[in-house]
Amino acid sequence: MSSEKASTLVSLSDDPLCRESTLTSLDTWITPTERFYIRNHFSDVPKLDRATWRLVIDGEIRHPLTLNFDDILALPSHELVITMECAGNSRSYVTPPAEGLAFRHGAVSTGRWKGVPLDTLLEQAGLKDTAAEVMFEGADHGQEEEDGIAFDLNYRRSLPLEKARHPDTLLAYEMNGEGLTTDHGFPLRLVVPRWYGMASVKWVTHINVLAQPFDGFFQQRRYVMINEGPEDTPDREPVAELKVKSLIANPRHGEVVQPGPATIRGFAWSGVGDVTRVEVSSDGGSNWQDAALLAEAIPNAWREWEFVWEASRPGHFIFMARATDSRGNTQPNNIPWNFRGYANHAIHTIAVEVPTSRAIPS
Ligand code: MTE
Repeated sequence: MSSEKASTLVSLSDDPLCRESTLTSLDTWITPTERFYIRNHFSDVPKLDRATWRLVIDGEIRHPLTLNFDDILALPSHELVITMECAGNSRSYVTPPAEGLAFRHGAVSTGRWKGVPLDTLLEQAGLKDTAAEVMFEGADHGQEEEDGIAFDLNYRRSLPLEKARHPDTLLAYEMNGEGLTTDHGFPLRLVVPRWYGMASVKWVTHINVLAQPFDGFFQQRRYVMINEGPEDTPDREPVAELKVKSLIANPRHGEVVQPGPATIRGFAWSGVGDVTRVEVSSDGGSNWQDAALLAEAIPNAWREWEFVWEASRPGHFIFMARATDSRGNTQPNNIPWNFRGYANHAIHTIAVEVPTSRAIPS
């Protein structure tokens, strides 16, 4: 990645690598690879060699398989446009200099992914009747700590059989027409449409079909909506499908908008249905108007929307965008609380200013 291109991503952490897009850079339906967010759990970024890489498939199957990269390329492929959002996207952050409540919203991007439907390999392997879940192991490993005890682990996640067998669940080797980059999981990664990004395991080397639910760290201790503290309840809802959400990509929060027509635009998505409506408010949520959805809904991908607003008078304006999906889900006004702040899909709000020709008295 050249430094010029790297600068299009904001670095949240260099170790582990965690970078996200700026909202204004999300100006195309497909996100160029150099603007696609990156989220790693470990410092370790595996540098795998295509020639020696192997994929082992074992567990509750009749024919254990070991495949090389050419074996994967020889299988029928499928290409899909899929939006990926990190479960931690839009979490509030508390690092100064932010004086009020502040959020980062750029851990969402859309790619064109090409690969082999996972089910093709599961068919070849011959699932036994005992198969219940499919676990994926990435080549990256590091340390985690719990109750003061540190331990080594690889990144591992599982999928229920139904999701694993869905024809759109891909083992992808291409992103946006090119081989995967190291950061995005070279040479092969899982891409799970409609689920938060943690499910899309990168650098996959091992697929293990399990007879019982997977109890690994990133399955049971992370990516679970836990209510902790005095109100603790036994609820442990796993993070799975993307909640309906929209983001205003333009203008940017704090922008000065010149008098005249201004285009407010952004993207909206949902993991449980298609986005059917996006409404925009310019007065902090008192009044709402429908935005135009710019193209047909494509399954698994976000929808671009726009709203032309007439900046007819000077002042401070609070813009909000609210999406609704075909299942009738809509975005909440309030941030849904859970201990780790996952899946914040509350209505996105930004402030803009339309200037007067003279200085505005404070
Ligand atoms: N896979 C492995 N092996 N290691 C990881 O740390 N991070 C997950 C997922 N797959 C991760 C992984 C998370 S939390 C997200 S949001 C997506 O990868 C991000 O994919 P990207 O970096 O290609 O955008």
